[in-house]
Amino acid sequence: MKINILTLFPEMFEPVIGGSILGRAKKKGILDVNLINIRDFSQDKHKKADDYPFGGGAGMVMLADPVFRAMEAIAAKGKKALYMSPRGRIIDHDRIKKLSEEEEIIILCGHYEGIDERIIEYWNMEEVSIGDYVLTGGELPAMVLIDSVARLIPDVLAGEESAQEESVYSGLLEYPQYTKPREYRGMMVPEVLFNGNHKLIALWKFEKSLELTKERRPDLFEKYLREHGELSKEELKILKKVESTVEKV
Ligand code: ADE
Repeated sequence: MKINILTLFPEMFEPVIGGSILGRAKKKGILDVNLINIRDFSQDKHKKADDYPFGGGAGMVMLADPVFRAMEAIAAKGKKALYMSPRGRIIDHDRIKKLSEEEEIIILCGHYEGIDERIIEYWNMEEVSIGDYVLTGGELPAMVLIDSVARLIPDVLAGEESAQEESVYSGLLEYPQYTKPREYRGMMVPEVLFNGNHKLIALWKFEKSLELTKERRPDLFEKYLREHGELSKEELKILKKVESTVEKV
């Protein structure tokens, strides 16, 4: 997959796309990240990329022309283009999954107060928000998006890391994890994890995932109740049990 990033601050991305899982994906040739500095496309002798908003108001607005030229340089017409903005629809797993199936995407990061609206209209950009809070620019949201999209591209994660994605747990919050030692300051790891019965362990994990999801994210829990895939008899029993548990107050 190719990800084109249009930004005024390309250096912000280097440590993120060079390191860890994204770096490995780049090396393996699964991910191609193309960083484009919008300022390079400014025709102005001072490389200006923003100006005062028409009609007044606070802050500066990113100029259309450098962005148009940058988009033209990557032959953007017809390609999936996103604009990171708190005005967009909040992104979720389903949309991230769809994006991970694209061959090429373009992400525009805004700064200052915003960008000239004609950029969004002409290039048919989808506005994407990562949450109901405002950051100083689109760079951090773009990194969040890239990281979450990349981990869903086949072969980016090692086999074990990705297995859960397809499992009966998808759509649920993760169960609690433990590692050595078995007892720490008097706190014990649940006994079930040592009995060697993989079926029982899997059922325990399922139950804990359901409990956590019901408690913390009732919206996800309801969705899971409506949409869960094939469940075994034992799993169904656990689901019914958790469903009928009265909330602790
Ligand atoms: N730019 C500033 N805030 C943002 C947000 N919450 N999501 C996406 N882009 C943004």
